[in-house]
Amino acid sequence: MSKILIVDEDQAVRAILKAILKHNGYEVEDAASGDEAIARMKGMSYDLVITDLRLGRGSSGYEVLREAKRRPFPPEVIVISACGTADEGVRAIKAGAFDFIGKPFKEDEVLRKVEEALIGRNAIAWSGGHELNGLIGRTPAMKEVFDLITQVCKTDCTVLILGESGTGKELVARAIHKNSKRRHMPLITVNCGAIPENLQESELFGHVKGAFTGADRDKMGILQEANGGTVFLDEIGEMSLSTQVKLLRFLQYGEVRRIGENRPVYVDVRLIAATNVDLEEAVENKAFRKDLYYRLNVVAIYLPPLRDRREDIPLLANHFLKRFSQKMEKGINGISPDAMTALMNYDWPGNVRELENAIERAVVLTRSDFIELEDLPPKVRYGSSDLYRSPLSRKGDTFRIKDDLTLREVERAYIVHKLKRCKTYEEAARELGIGRSTLWRKIKRYGITPDEVM
Ligand SMILES: Nc1ncnc2c1ncn2[C@@H]1O[C@H](COP(=O)(O)OP(=O)(O)OP(=O)(O)O)[C@@H](O)[C@H]1O
Ligand SMILES: [Mg+2]
Repeated sequence: MSKILIVDEDQAVRAILKAILKHNGYEVEDAASGDEAIARMKGMSYDLVITDLRLGRGSSGYEVLREAKRRPFPPEVIVISACGTADEGVRAIKAGAFDFIGKPFKEDEVLRKVEEALIGRNAIAWSGGHELNGLIGRTPAMKEVFDLITQVCKTDCTVLILGESGTGKELVARAIHKNSKRRHMPLITVNCGAIPENLQESELFGHVKGAFTGADRDKMGILQEANGGTVFLDEIGEMSLSTQVKLLRFLQYGEVRRIGENRPVYVDVRLIAATNVDLEEAVENKAFRKDLYYRLNVVAIYLPPLRDRREDIPLLANHFLKRFSQKMEKGINGISPDAMTALMNYDWPGNVRELENAIERAVVLTRSDFIELEDLPPKVRYGSSDLYRSPLSRKGDTFRIKDDLTLREVERAYIVHKLKRCKTYEEAARELGIGRSTLWRKIKRYGITPDEVM
């Protein structure tokens, strides 16, 4: 529970604030003077201090603020300033206060600001607990990810999320948005890989009627729709070069110009981008603009593949087990040691998504109240055993590789093979251990046509 200290000379103000905050589940103490507040801070660690700036005799609100910022675990500070003295509030923010509230205050404003001030701190506490908005992990690598998320959600800076398919990039984007001050505004996801290149620009920036054939009415772009919120550009590596130019202007000047219109509008949107391709390589190949890459790469969050953080596997496996077991009302109690060993040893090319699918399948299949080795997919059961892996065979359904093929050709052929035998793209993606959008991209890249997979 978050601990709050209220500092105000006026007994009535203290009583009201105390009542509001206690009623909303906070632990609250109060002090009637700056000196008393400073003495209390020395003996107790608070998460938040709310102080009037004018405290009469003794230490002022500024001194309370300064002392707060000197503590080993400095609390956030919200200052109270009488109505019409916003300048004073701004001065306090410059001196390190989180925000200010004007007197007389409104209950919902107080609660909103208190909640905002405490968010970053709670995130830090959660990362100690191996979880942040559904993102699970306890390895140092994931701790680092949690710390970065905690840092960037206090700011508006552009974030680039990197990692193989299925490592949790989308979850990270959501966590950043949900913990930022924009969380009451929309988070709009744009999957660049799923939008044809010639439509990307209009999707993001909008167009006016008649701007091109098919533009039969005005359309607002996503960047404008998300005003005040966050736009998550997934698979940014798939963005067309012409859209990249416009995006750069947006990042530089906040400028959004609809196709067919000269006058730009200015919007306030935070960008989060993600990719599972090597953008530096794309820059070298001239498929991605260098200037845009630098603009996006202000803060990069790298999600390591699951095989490089195997100690997270038991935590994740049990988390998914609990979830699916509840959902399917199966009352499964755990994972047998054999099965867990297999889970730990497997390489997880599809990362957390593949693990999640394996556990879901196991929950469906198991007949006991434990997940046993035989409930796991064969490739997990047999691990890296070469015997099983080549020649990639399955009963009555063999995929043969001629040995004069390049790796690209093998990948293409294998995707076609899976598309032929699966009923939906979803299923094919799952069997391939990749995301649906990654599958789409590959289909596009390899020029796989519907005829081929009939
Ligand atoms: N650390 C994690 N804790 C809990 N669940 C996770 C974690 N990482 C990923 N997942 C789960 O794995 C699945 C894939 O995650 P997500 O969609 O975020 O991956 P991605 O990196 O965006 O993949 P892709 O590049 O294929 O789009 C989701 O169901 C997500 O909930
Ligand atoms: Mg994704």
